[in-house]
Amino acid sequence: SLLVPSVQELAKKPIATIPPRYLRPDLEKPIVSNAGSISEIPVIDMEGLVSKESMDSSLAKLDFACKEWGFFQVQLALCIYHLNPYSTLVPGEYLINHGMSLSLVEKVKTEIQDFFNLAMEEKKKYWLYPGDVEGFGQAFVVSDEQKLDWGDMFFLTTLPVYSRKPHLFPKLPLPFRDTLNQYSLELEKLAMAILVQKAEAINMNVEEMREFFEGGLQSMRTNYYPPCGEPEQVIGLSPHSDATGLTILHQVNEVEGLQVKKDGKWLPVKPLPNAFIVNIGDALEIITNVVYRSIEHRATVNSEKERLSIATFYSPNYNGEVGPAPSLISEGNQALFRRVRVEDYSKAPFTRQLYEKSHLDSMR
Ligand code: SIN
Ligand code: FE2
Repeated sequence: SLLVPSVQELAKKPIATIPPRYLRPDLEKPIVSNAGSISEIPVIDMEGLVSKESMDSSLAKLDFACKEWGFFQVQLALCIYHLNPYSTLVPGEYLINHGMSLSLVEKVKTEIQDFFNLAMEEKKKYWLYPGDVEGFGQAFVVSDEQKLDWGDMFFLTTLPVYSRKPHLFPKLPLPFRDTLNQYSLELEKLAMAILVQKAEAINMNVEEMREFFEGGLQSMRTNYYPPCGEPEQVIGLSPHSDATGLTILHQVNEVEGLQVKKDGKWLPVKPLPNAFIVNIGDALEIITNVVYRSIEHRATVNSEKERLSIATFYSPNYNGEVGPAPSLISEGNQALFRRVRVEDYSKAPFTRQLYEKSHLDSMR
């Protein structure tokens, strides 16, 4: 990556004209606030997935959401209790140990906000140096001519613990570091639970799903999008699909901005309070051999309000391979992708600019 300025700093001073590198006449305008289209986005009740009576209909709904949208939301209040990813889903089991309580999510919210509010001098410690992919800045800038997004990102590997960069995670200020640690462990459980349920929904061998993802690579990107006087001229985050298996996104301050591409149109997604947005990434499209497709999305910015979000990416185990699950391949169902080492697969996204579903190109 190449060094770029902080947009948060840039946006602090009144600016007469937006610097040309941020102008994006190339991007399609969204189909704005056709209320019907927003409410269509599936909300999955995690509780429904664990009670015997509603299991089948909830699995069907999850399956529909993933196939039709590549995308769904889970509402936190409904998923506090029951997430034992290791199959015996006993209601209440995680009430004590789960920890994914509203108070944890509240802490994540305030501490992310505080982190971005730190003085530039403090944030400089985590700045992304050319060639790095982790730290503060924009990780996908690979040329000096490239257009820039109207936002600052802070990207870091969170799991497995040994993959944390010594100059980042362990050096984060407290209590942010502890909260992020707790959040990362909870989200790993949530991701595994969802992945296993997805495997069940599509008759994929559940053990295969576990094998791909157990001890998986987790990373997080917190995004800060300052307001922009001419929001239609810029983009907070360029259109892309995630290279990951699953992404669990939390819209920290509930300001609208996320848009997903459905049937060729950009649709805004209203943030639901305390909900997570779960979207399918390219690695899961590969693993499910296109039973599920990754979804393209982008983030727009607001004219008055800043917007914050935190995306948690869950990818296959770094020491393993990624490719179509053997249980989904048969004579009539040929593998549509190659099988490669996760190590090679995970490096590639950072060598190019974000665009559409770019990670899949090299896998066919
Ligand atoms: C992302 O795609 O990682 C973030 C999108 C958002 O900020 O809503
Ligand atoms: Fe994304």
